[in-house]
Amino acid sequence: MFARKIKNRIYWMGSVDWDSRLFDSLIPLPDGTSYNAYFIEGSEKTVLLDTVDPPMASEFLAQLESIPKIDYIVSQHAEQDHSGTIPQVLEKYPDAKLISTPKAKGLLTDLLQIPEESFITVEDGETLSLGDKTLTFIHTPWVHWPETMVTYLQEDKILFSCDFFGSHIATTDLFVTDEGRVYEAAKRYFAEIMMPFRNVIKKNLEKLAPYDIAMIAPGHGQIFQRPAFIVDAYREWILGPPRNTVVLPYVSMHKSTKRMVEHLVSALVEKGVRVELFNLAVTDIGKLAMALVDAGTIVVGTPTILAGPHPYAAYAAFLANALRPKASFLSIIGSYGWGGKTVETLAGMIPNLKVEVLNPVLCKGVPSEDVFKALDELATVIAQKHKENDFK
Ligand code: FEO
Repeated sequence: MFARKIKNRIYWMGSVDWDSRLFDSLIPLPDGTSYNAYFIEGSEKTVLLDTVDPPMASEFLAQLESIPKIDYIVSQHAEQDHSGTIPQVLEKYPDAKLISTPKAKGLLTDLLQIPEESFITVEDGETLSLGDKTLTFIHTPWVHWPETMVTYLQEDKILFSCDFFGSHIATTDLFVTDEGRVYEAAKRYFAEIMMPFRNVIKKNLEKLAPYDIAMIAPGHGQIFQRPAFIVDAYREWILGPPRNTVVLPYVSMHKSTKRMVEHLVSALVEKGVRVELFNLAVTDIGKLAMALVDAGTIVVGTPTILAGPHPYAAYAAFLANALRPKASFLSIIGSYGWGGKTVETLAGMIPNLKVEVLNPVLCKGVPSEDVFKALDELATVIAQKHKENDFK
């Protein structure tokens, strides 16, 4: 792809990655992604904001061929999908200065071995004049690393945000054309890397509130010409109360746990509680992460294997613990053959979750009428708890 004009002397550069299906060797990318860099030509100085993932470097360097001089490279985030090609850009433009937060300087030095003399560090709120265009650097830590910042272009009212407000979508559309599709992709990205840091990100949103932002240009996905759409979505994910929803990740080996899960789903729905069900043997883990953003209750369904939870259930518990969703309640259901410590093991895996643990329902062998009755009681308790807490 070639460099594309956004506004007068402001260009998108980077790479659309149609093929990747996994990010960080973990996160499913059903729609690929893009690595967005931006080039701004002021009347006196030029600046490049971020670069691309190293596998995309040759495409990116080809875009730079027609640019004789870059005065500044801004690294808004030290993770390599944005910073990884900085060494090659510095090699091409040896006089360019690399602008970063002081924290990013340390990370960039460790990760890319960039020499000390290339850096200029900027404090929160510091500005840089390019002549007729002015950049303000705003420290927005923990999106999802400690060093992250965004950059505001004052005259054009554009916020360059890197991972913040980003979405993994490969498309030839430079600007958002389908907000529903972008909402889904952005929520997936928020859930997978930003949700654990939502209390800090909330402060970052507050910090951006005074800025008059006409456009948000993220490091992944399309550019927002209606910034309120994505800012409001972030507010909802961060500040909104949990919903009247149970997220139920489960795995079943001989159908006993599956029968319990099906019974609980019906009982919950009958009592007016929404359920998002994920068979962990086949599910997209990103969809599970998205569902965790809003859920009021998590119920994990697992058989006992080798005296503990099924490894897929342990993975889901580990993920939920790492993502720290805002759910208020949690329970465990499942079957066992001869014994084990499934409940104790799973409960020990979720110390980060600030949840009330509701009585688990475990059954020996196939579920009996008593087990179904216990599941009905669990559904009643969940519905009651959601009602008391006004989950909608
Ligand atoms: Fe898009 Fe945190 O990297």
